[in-house]
Amino acid sequence: MKIKVGLIGFGRMGRFYLTEFQRSSCYDVAYICDLKEENRELAHQLSPDSTITDSVDVIFNDNSIQLVVLCALANSRKEQIEKARQTGKHIISEKPIADSIQREWEVVDMLHDYDKFYTVNLYLRNSWYHNAIKDFIEEGEIGELAILRICHMTPGLAPGEGHEYEGPAFHDCGMHYVDIARWYAGCEYKTWHAQGINMWSYKDPWWIQCHGTFENGVVFDITQGFVYGQLAKNQIHNSYIDIIGTKGVARMTHDFKTAKVSLHGVTKTLEIEKPFGGKNIDKLIAEMADSIMSGKRNAGMPEMRDSAISSEFAWRFLEDAHTHELPAIGNLKELNEIRERRAKMTDGYGLLHKLD
Ligand SMILES: NC(=O)c1ccc[n+]([C@@H]2O[C@H](COP(=O)([O-])OP(=O)(O)OC[C@H]3O[C@@H](n4cnc5c(N)ncnc54)[C@H](O)[C@@H]3O)[C@@H](O)[C@H]2O)c1
Repeated sequence: MKIKVGLIGFGRMGRFYLTEFQRSSCYDVAYICDLKEENRELAHQLSPDSTITDSVDVIFNDNSIQLVVLCALANSRKEQIEKARQTGKHIISEKPIADSIQREWEVVDMLHDYDKFYTVNLYLRNSWYHNAIKDFIEEGEIGELAILRICHMTPGLAPGEGHEYEGPAFHDCGMHYVDIARWYAGCEYKTWHAQGINMWSYKDPWWIQCHGTFENGVVFDITQGFVYGQLAKNQIHNSYIDIIGTKGVARMTHDFKTAKVSLHGVTKTLEIEKPFGGKNIDKLIAEMADSIMSGKRNAGMPEMRDSAISSEFAWRFLEDAHTHELPAIGNLKELNEIRERRAKMTDGYGLLHKLD
């Protein structure tokens, strides 16, 4: 029998989930909920057999719904997780799992003895490329892990376009990189120093570079910014990970279609190119289906605790940037031009309104 799903939030991520649920043979999307009428109309078109609603309670109160997917915005997440717990649903939550550090830890506490399955979409943990690199490191091919360098800069979501509860770019998107660096290091952050810039003289830095150490001595630098040429005629991005050991190197870059992994170890050199895999939602929902059907939590599913930690450190790094010289370059007129351009774009980086 198919797992009955209620999908809450039908924006960019909600549509990605629907596509993957429709591709899977394990699920039946019984409900889609969104507050915006235009998104509910789109849901009707894309999933005519689902009940479309603007009320989350209709979903929580239906005992036949086994799994809820929470992909509205961070301000409603904790309340929805609470309702899911009260009504006994399995949970896939988008990140962050709430809109403040305190509430995120309350979510972690609230779920610690919950007997249903729950996870959060820390999608990099489910990517083939990070898993291939980690396996290579664990084989000892690069010697001892020493330096983690991560960069993700795109002409993506500009200030004022949405995701206000998710925080500036370094928190909203950057928490994924804060998480994956910690996943590679295998221990907690120890020291850090963050440099930001208030691009377009916006009040918050939309580009940050943070470097520091982990408790085991591994050093990191993480660069994240949605400031990468939003007004360029032809847009481009720069995204990579560069991992240096005492003996070898492992790295990856991608163009959002194909990811290229280069592994330069002591006994072998491997060049792997495979489809990028997007947000790896197919993998996450397969892991959840496996958990529900077998009654045993699939170990690949990311933990809420990891999301709370990476979110907390992304906030701390942002805070640290505010304690140092924080130059302002450019002006708000340029930012308006960016918003206007992105509002008209149908194919661009991280467009929230893209109706595909
Ligand atoms: N894991 C990832 O890689 C990843 C990537 C992008 C976004 N996200 C997260 O997913 C969430 C959604 O992001 P998005 O890009 O789809 O944003 P979006 O603005 O495109 O979509 C959010 C949708 O939720 C709806 N909504 C808001 N409050 C609601 C409520 N209380 N009940 C029902 N619907 C509600 C809005 O009308 C909107 O359609 C964000 O929290 C974001 O942090 C995660």
